[in-house]
Amino acid sequence: MATSILPSLLLPIILWMCMSFVECLTTVDKIIEHSQSYDGGLCLNLIQPCGYACVEHTTQTKDGFLLGLQRVSSSTIKLGVQSGPPVLLLHGLFMGGDAWFMDSPNESLGFVLANHGFDVWVGNMRGTKWSHGHSSLSDGDKEFWDWSWEEMALYDLEAMLTYINSKTSSKVFVVGHSQGTIMSFAAFTQPDIVNMVEAAALLSPISYLDHITSKFVLNLVNMHLEEALSLLGIHQLNLKSNILIDIIELGCDGGRLDCSNMLASITGENCCFNSSRVDFYLEYEPHPSSLKNLKHLFQMIRKGTFARYDYGTLKNILKYGQTKPPTFDLSKIPESLPIWMAHGGNDALGDVIDVQHTVKELKSNPKVLFLEEYGHVDFLLSTRAFEDMYDNMITFFRSCKMSSSF
Ligand SMILES: *[C@@H]1O[C@H](CO)[C@@H](O)[C@H](O)[C@H]1NC(C)=O
Ligand SMILES: *[C@@H]1O[C@H](CO)[C@@H](O)[C@H](O)[C@H]1NC(C)=O
Repeated sequence: MATSILPSLLLPIILWMCMSFVECLTTVDKIIEHSQSYDGGLCLNLIQPCGYACVEHTTQTKDGFLLGLQRVSSSTIKLGVQSGPPVLLLHGLFMGGDAWFMDSPNESLGFVLANHGFDVWVGNMRGTKWSHGHSSLSDGDKEFWDWSWEEMALYDLEAMLTYINSKTSSKVFVVGHSQGTIMSFAAFTQPDIVNMVEAAALLSPISYLDHITSKFVLNLVNMHLEEALSLLGIHQLNLKSNILIDIIELGCDGGRLDCSNMLASITGENCCFNSSRVDFYLEYEPHPSSLKNLKHLFQMIRKGTFARYDYGTLKNILKYGQTKPPTFDLSKIPESLPIWMAHGGNDALGDVIDVQHTVKELKSNPKVLFLEEYGHVDFLLSTRAFEDMYDNMITFFRSCKMSSSF
């Protein structure tokens, strides 16, 4: 596997340097230790055991990826029969569809929406554990990993919405978290995709990233982590491997940045998440992604643009017919699309200034819920998530579809 080809010379040095921040390493150990693969899908492992009806589906993207989708409903509602409107959940970077089912049925959004009568569809992007590879490529091929969030927006989201649309004959509510919002914003600028969407709820919404405050991430950007990984011949970013030790070493700046609370140094201080459940979360997270995706995200941080992937001047001319990659124009998102957002004052990835920039460029006037204490992960894992925001989101969805009786 590509990720294991660390130069043998580097490894002892890195291990020696890591001695000084034991906390980080304990986390790494746990992540690697939990790297077993699961038999059966997400339904079988996480959703059915909680008493919910769940069926596995697969859809294929235009560029050949086979994406796993799970259809979930409260066991008291028969699947497909008089169920409420479909809602599609789009997870964040290094996460999978499991992210929506990590806590109790009263806390986690996937369960909560099913409890409220929604026909819940769980998205799993290309490369993640609950997706099913590619029609002709294997995950050992470098071509398999030749994509970023741009392809997730234009191909994955398109394929999932088309599939749900055909099964339910209904427009789809979309909920995204973090990377799930980046792909939503990009996809909603495309008329053929946005036409399938009823309304969107965006948790920690991101289209601009140039005011990111995460010192950990900024360290990695400034040290050009992506170039170092490229030189190592890495295409797949699998954090359940020893490569994570290098990344943490770089991100924590050799101990200069206090990484004793790893999660907080990456995402910002999370007010409401239950830290005694981390071991359980790590059984599922993190999921793989591509190095190209990380490169694209770092481009956004460096340039402050919301644009297609930057291949460099020459290749851009060949690919796009212009020296700079075309931007995704947020004003192209139809004014008629109802949008709800929730963002946090402690979110080190979704900064308030960047969220305001996004809102300013939209033609519509989205409903915005600001949660001062929330960090990036609280939007998924807060123990108070229902009272703080999901209740509000559901009221919003209901107001978009007054005619329906759900
Ligand atoms: C979940 O919420 C319901 C209704 O509000 C309540 O009756 C039940 O006790 C809660 N369950 C848990 C495990 O908190
Ligand atoms: C935190 O998680 C632990 C372990 O799962 C659980 O026993 C406890 O009830 C949780 N606390 C809250 C406030 O949800």
